[in-house]
Amino acid sequence: MTQPRREVLEKLTPVLTKRWLSPDAWQIGVYERLDGYAALRKALDVHPDDLIQLIKDSGLRGRGGAGFPTGLKWGFIPQEPDGGLKPAKPHYLVINADEGEPGTCKDLPLMTYDPHSLIEGAIIASYAIRSNRAFIYIRGEAVHAARRLRNAVKEAYAKGYLGRNILGTGFDLDLVVHSGAGAYICGEETALLDSLEGFRGQPRLRPPFPAIAGLYASPTVVNNVGTIASVPYIVLGGADWWKSMGTEKSSGPMIYSLSGRIVNPGQYECGLGITLRELIELAGGMTPGHNLKFWTPGGSSTPLLTAEHIDTPMDFEGVAAAGSILGTTAMQIFSDQDCPVYATWRWLEFYHHESCGKCTPCREGNYWMVRTYRRILSGEGTYADLDTLQDTADNIFGRSFCGLGDGAATPVISTLKFFRQDYLDYIEGRTAPRLSAKALVGAH
Ligand SMILES: Cc1cc2nc3c(=O)[nH]c(=O)nc-3n(C[C@H](O)[C@H](O)[C@H](O)COP(=O)(O)O)c2cc1C
Ligand code: SF4
Repeated sequence: MTQPRREVLEKLTPVLTKRWLSPDAWQIGVYERLDGYAALRKALDVHPDDLIQLIKDSGLRGRGGAGFPTGLKWGFIPQEPDGGLKPAKPHYLVINADEGEPGTCKDLPLMTYDPHSLIEGAIIASYAIRSNRAFIYIRGEAVHAARRLRNAVKEAYAKGYLGRNILGTGFDLDLVVHSGAGAYICGEETALLDSLEGFRGQPRLRPPFPAIAGLYASPTVVNNVGTIASVPYIVLGGADWWKSMGTEKSSGPMIYSLSGRIVNPGQYECGLGITLRELIELAGGMTPGHNLKFWTPGGSSTPLLTAEHIDTPMDFEGVAAAGSILGTTAMQIFSDQDCPVYATWRWLEFYHHESCGKCTPCREGNYWMVRTYRRILSGEGTYADLDTLQDTADNIFGRSFCGLGDGAATPVISTLKFFRQDYLDYIEGRTAPRLSAKALVGAH
């Protein structure tokens, strides 16, 4: 393992991750000793509109994938004409803790090791948007994180941070932790709302957007775990301090999840704008004997990048300029010993399985693409299969009802663009088949 250079080590910026290694930081007493709930006291002294303005000024952008400005989203919630704190129709805060994007692993450790930071952020955000009921929708498989979270919620009630008349301010908030059933589509915010209401989780037609008609047709803010957990730090440190990290248009720190062919996979929190080259150095370098070939900047739904993009600034603008999307900053790193065709097939099996079936391009297209990959990988592929894949992916991308379809088509389009030769190597017999002919039987 190579030691990172000092100037690269200094790029580590532990803010949201700063308590993760403190023993028992998930317990409320320890959290309070480590500045916990100080931001809440400060926030409840401020008018909710000023909090929304603070978040706007900080430039915080959603950490759930799309990077939408958080303060702007909060500002969309219609308020009473007199600015009153008790809206006639309930407002809701829903925290998206479904975290299912392949390679993404930032929200689950946060909820496991520092659940109170999310709860504190939830209380402040609810106060800002005048909500008296908030929900955390957590992935069904994340049993341990959900247990920690539920326990932390119980502790927060016992200390008067949740419930009636919080800290004597007259503000009431109930917080519900709801476990989903483990469906990737329920991370899509409108499918999540349907699932939370007890229906089968499928995306809703927009408009109306959740800010106008979300949960139970009421004004609702849906935010990612990392977004809401950032709020207490901004309240304590101020907008200028937050903006001192990251870049001009992509402010603040970001948790980058690194996996694959590197020495130390894990979470590295740095200011937005760090490069993959620097992140790999922080992670101890590439696995010995491996050279970078391709990587996902923000999970498998984001267009792949290659070794030539290693110095791309990992912020919203930098990654877009390189032709991809920052997404969830889940960087899966593949080497010259990994096969892009095989990797794409594995992702497609996932998308095919997780497609909710509501719209034809995604439901049918993924079915056919999976079958075509199985054929190519078992040595039965033809040149025409490449045209079929391109055509199918092009017909899914931009024509599906929600982002899952685009995400599924993305690795296909990327690998056909960058690694056509790897496909041809299977078709022309230079690469040995990776799947047996059995993979073609009952391929559904
Ligand atoms: C298929 C699909 C899955 C998604 N999964 C998640 C998820 O697990 N967590 C998340 O925060 N956002 C997920 N999103 C994005 C949400 O729809 C939404 O944009 C996000 O929760 C908004 O929060 P933010 O503004 O704080 O980023 C997903 C989107 C799609 C299309
Ligand atoms: S794109 Fe896929 S997941 Fe999204 S609505 Fe259509 S079938 Fe469902």
